[in-house]
Amino acid sequence: MPQFRKPTGFFGRILARGMAWGHKDFYKNTDKVLNLRHDDRYLEIGFGSGLFIKKYASHVARIAGLDCSEDMVNLSCGINKNLVKSGKAEFKLGDVSSLPWKNDEFSVVVGIETFFFWSEPIASLKEIYRVLATGGRLVIEMAYNKDDGLDHTKHIKKMNLKLYGANEMTKMLKESGFNDVVITCYKGFWIPFKGHVVPKGMIVKAIKKKKLLRRS
Ligand SMILES: C[S@@+](CC[C@H](N)C(=O)[O-])C[C@H]1O[C@@H](n2cnc3c(N)ncnc32)[C@H](O)[C@@H]1O
Repeated sequence: MPQFRKPTGFFGRILARGMAWGHKDFYKNTDKVLNLRHDDRYLEIGFGSGLFIKKYASHVARIAGLDCSEDMVNLSCGINKNLVKSGKAEFKLGDVSSLPWKNDEFSVVVGIETFFFWSEPIASLKEIYRVLATGGRLVIEMAYNKDDGLDHTKHIKKMNLKLYGANEMTKMLKESGFNDVVITCYKGFWIPFKGHVVPKGMIVKAIKKKKLLRRS
């Protein structure tokens, strides 16, 4: 189970590819909200295999990624080797709470199935705010969330997750400087569920409206 938090080694690489297959619906729903343009400067946190980038983001102007697993950095570099070779994409090792980029570098930041693993959510959201340019957008997708109608007691224990609901997300984003928070839900038919409840995946979008006062 710690493999979901930080996929490592041979099994981690297999799992990451499996997740990309299993997350197909999450990817599609995230892509709709992201609405990526050719001139976007894109940063993905916790990219795992990098297959979302290959399928949905390869047309943007610039691609950067950060993941806390060295094996995921290597896997994504391999999967996106043409983008890396051309100098358009870079994948770095690190933790989201300390991003190795300057202020205002990106027009869009995305995190798919990763936010619930972050140990410092507010510090991390503030870091994302810092590297986003004014007018830039943040999109966070979470299939598992507090409002999805499921009992996650087992997952929380097994995967060491911290789940959030829409109200908490809005509060944390505002505290980190973001505006225009919009939260949408999609029906996650394939997410394991019990009885008649169809769980709801959550996609959170927020905008950086104000310029940072302190610049690096
Ligand atoms: C469940 S996987 C999701 C991978 C990919 N986004 C996908 O949907 O296929 C979570 C990913 O987030 C990364 N991750 C977890 N915590 C992180 C952190 N604090 N900073 C950077 N990456 C993190 C993990 O290494 C892993 O690759």
